[in-house]
Formats: sequence, C-alpha cells, structure tokens
Amino acid sequence: MTVPPPIVAPSILAADFARLADEVRAVEEAADWLHVDVMDNHFVPNLTIGLPVVQSLRAATELPFDVHLMIEDPRRWAPGYADAGAYNVTFHAEACDNPVALAKDLRSAGAKAGLAIDRDTPIEPYLELLPSFDTLLIMTIKAGFGGQRFIPELLEKVRTARRHVAAGHLELRIEVDGGIAADTIAQAAEAGADAFVAGTAVYGADDPAEAVRRLRALAERAASGA
Ligand code: DX5
Ligand code: ZN
Repeated sequence: MTVPPPIVAPSILAADFARLADEVRAVEEAADWLHVDVMDNHFVPNLTIGLPVVQSLRAATELPFDVHLMIEDPRRWAPGYADAGAYNVTFHAEACDNPVALAKDLRSAGAKAGLAIDRDTPIEPYLELLPSFDTLLIMTIKAGFGGQRFIPELLEKVRTARRHVAAGHLELRIEVDGGIAADTIAQAAEAGADAFVAGTAVYGADDPAEAVRRLRALAERAASGA
C-alpha cells in the first residue's frame, strides 16, 4: 500500500485570533497546509470566522489553505472560499444533498474538493463518491470544538477508506481531524491517514513550528512501519 508523504495542517482554531497573521507565520516554515475551521453556529453550535477573515489572511501567508466548512448550505457558500484562493475546500457530507455537484463546482472554481465525515456518520455510503474528491476528512472527534479527546474507534473509517482508495487507485488524501497529537498521530497514520490536522498540539506547544515537525516525523515513522 503506497501512501504519499504525510501532510501536517495546523488548525488556527487553537491560535490567538487577535494575532492571526503572526500565529500563521509561526508555523509557515514547518507546515504543509493551514487548516481553517469555518463554523456557522448552525451546523455546529460554535461560531468562528468567515470569508472576510479568510480573504485577509490569504494575503498574509503563502501557505495553502485547507478550509474546513462546518456550515449549513455549503452549496451557497463553499465556492466563495475557492474564489478567495483556498487550496482545498472541504464541506460536510451531512450538510449537502448533492456532494458530487458541489465538488464539481469547487474544482471548476480552481480548488481541490474535500468531503468531511462527522463522528456519527458511516463512511460506506460515500465511498462511491470519492473519485469526485481530492480529500476525504474523517473526523476523529465530533466536529465543533478544538481540544477534544481523540476517539480511536473512528479510525475504522480511515482503514475502510484506505482500502477503498488502494483498490480503486484513487488519488485522494485521507485526512484526520480532532485530537491529533504526539500520542495519537501514529495510530492514525498506521490506519492509513496521510494528512493530519492539529490545533491544540501545535498552538498549545511552546514552539509551534517544532511541534509540526515532530508530528510529521511521527507520522512518517508510523507510515513506513518502523
Ligand atoms: C474541530 C475542528 C478541528 C480542531 C481540532 O471541529 O474541525 O480542526 O481545530 O482541534 P484539536 O487538534 O485541538 O483537536
Ligand atoms: Zn477542522
């Protein structure tokens, strides 16, 4: 099973929102993507940032943006994030009745398209849609808040997705989000994840860039079976 080199995406949800540009620069040299959590207080109870902040932040860094939309009606809002220059735009399966159509819209707007699967959603009904997507984000917590405890049972979905990707020779990143830290990233990598979102484990560290490098090293080691 060949898996591409791991991506580490720090989540700014755990950063200081009053100093966002500085917080992004603190990981710029070490991170692969910047994970941007958009929450609308409807799809999830929490509320974060929206398009104006993403547009301003886009001008402040070279890092590719991995936008994770935890919002209702993504068909209406998601393409705006692609237009704003996001590298990847992920929306939730639970919030969208035609995920393939929205994936097409995102790709035509110049972004990669991501499908997110929340804690209580099975993966099986979505496997056949994966050729339309570039990333699959499997929540390893219930979406909505940072700092929650990783749920190892959810890695079964990662294993299922990895087998499906390998069998179909799909070009798809399998991303995990929630509770990813030095003590959990190896098991996620062994299950077949190749992109890792980390909020608290990066921005809660004394040296966020070093925390990113350490996480990547742990994921690499686990993926190579060492
Ligand atoms: C939560 C967000 C996550 C969050 C993860 O719904 O999607 O990206 O930032 O935070 P940690 O790494 O602290 O679990
Ligand atoms: Zn996220």
